[in-house]
Amino acid sequence: MDAKSKFSSDIELEREFEALPPEDFLYDRRGPWPQPSPNHPFGEAPGVLHIPWQEWLYWWFKIGSRYVFFWVLCWPIALLKALLWWKVSPVSDEEFSDYFYNSCYAKFLTEEFTDDTKNIFKDYIKENKTYYYCDFVGMSALKPLKGVQCEPSITLFEKTDDGIRPIAINLRDYVCDPTDGDLWMLGKYIALQAAANHVIVATHPRLHFPMDAINAITKTAIPKDHILFQLIYPHTELTLKLDWQVLNSKLSLLENKWWMIYAPFPASAESMRDLVVLGYHGIQDNPAYPKYEYPLMGPQKVVSPYGTFHDEYYKVYYQFVEEVLNEVPDDDKFIIRWCDYIHAEMPSFPSAQKVQSDRKLLTHAVASYMWDVSLGHAADHKTYAEIPVNKNPLRVRVASPTYKNPDFKLKLGNVASLLDQTRLVLANWMFFKPCNVSNLIDVEYNFRLEKLKDASSSFKKNLKETEANLKTKNYMPVDQIPPSIQY
Ligand SMILES: [Fe+2]
Repeated sequence: MDAKSKFSSDIELEREFEALPPEDFLYDRRGPWPQPSPNHPFGEAPGVLHIPWQEWLYWWFKIGSRYVFFWVLCWPIALLKALLWWKVSPVSDEEFSDYFYNSCYAKFLTEEFTDDTKNIFKDYIKENKTYYYCDFVGMSALKPLKGVQCEPSITLFEKTDDGIRPIAINLRDYVCDPTDGDLWMLGKYIALQAAANHVIVATHPRLHFPMDAINAITKTAIPKDHILFQLIYPHTELTLKLDWQVLNSKLSLLENKWWMIYAPFPASAESMRDLVVLGYHGIQDNPAYPKYEYPLMGPQKVVSPYGTFHDEYYKVYYQFVEEVLNEVPDDDKFIIRWCDYIHAEMPSFPSAQKVQSDRKLLTHAVASYMWDVSLGHAADHKTYAEIPVNKNPLRVRVASPTYKNPDFKLKLGNVASLLDQTRLVLANWMFFKPCNVSNLIDVEYNFRLEKLKDASSSFKKNLKETEANLKTKNYMPVDQIPPSIQY
């Protein structure tokens, strides 16, 4: 009896096994793999806890060393900048609308009104007009640091010909509007504070962490010569260690310790983590807090040019992925396993069975990954980091009055402290502002087929053409898009 028949009578299985020599895989088939999150196995995306040493070292060389440089040497400059701005500056209604319409905050504009939101704003909503609202009830989950406020709010916007304008803000059990002077100004800071905390901790992580499962499984379960590996690998650079650092390091800004001059958050580390869970898990029956589902219809629908911008580019990613995957047979065993491995960790990722009955699902799954980790992620960072820090504090130290008080006076100097703003300036430089290690436009896919080399050239050409024909603001120039999550 030879070794094969000793272990199995299924000859097909053994032939498959012979096609898996360890050296054909990036890490000899001992690579990274996702597992349930140690912090919250049900409320956070699966995490990758064991990072190959090569990726660990490369991250320290390219990114970690930069963090240390900023932390040790640049905080005095951040302090100086906060001093020059003198904490916070007034925010006009036009600026407020612009931040919510032309940045990643546009993702918070909700069209679907619940009975509660209709009731709250019943005195403001008129027929034949279009309204959106931004609900930040999630702020109630935060346990604020001493002297800091974390208030929930709901802002009502009206659609105008060229954008939106703020109509009213719900604070506590009353609503204020632009006629309310200082209370209205405070309402805008409260809404902006919530938007910033939600972007950083609740919604932006939806672009980061679910993609780690795909990153790790591709490296470990797909041979280096496989077309799918060649397509995805350039889009995995630096991300596993970066995400590990955010979620698991004792030095992570999420720990929000007092001595971390780069940690800008307004609440305890534990409750900031609850906001991460809220962002992933959603809130039942609240359309402003949808549960995370792996995107299989392209980018999240956003009712502003920010959404149109992403939709236009997504078509270019989809076309490229479709051309590449056309070269892979329907019954490719590596892709079948790849889908099922990811599906097992993240049930909203399509299983092999689903992909085999609808090939477009596979194309969307791969195109969504590539769009997400490059343009989808980077444009969030760029548009958030461009909102002036002195108009958008993460910590607000003035509480709204317990009842609607027409004599309420707001001292701008009390809205945030100098140290709050210093932390935010430094965090913006270190973590939020885009800082590419490599660029999408320079990526060389390791395709062997000439046809696919041509497809990758067309992909880059089409990105440029899309940029030239944009009908929206150019939220992220093509030359500045990184191929993977690098910040
Ligand atoms: Fe990020």
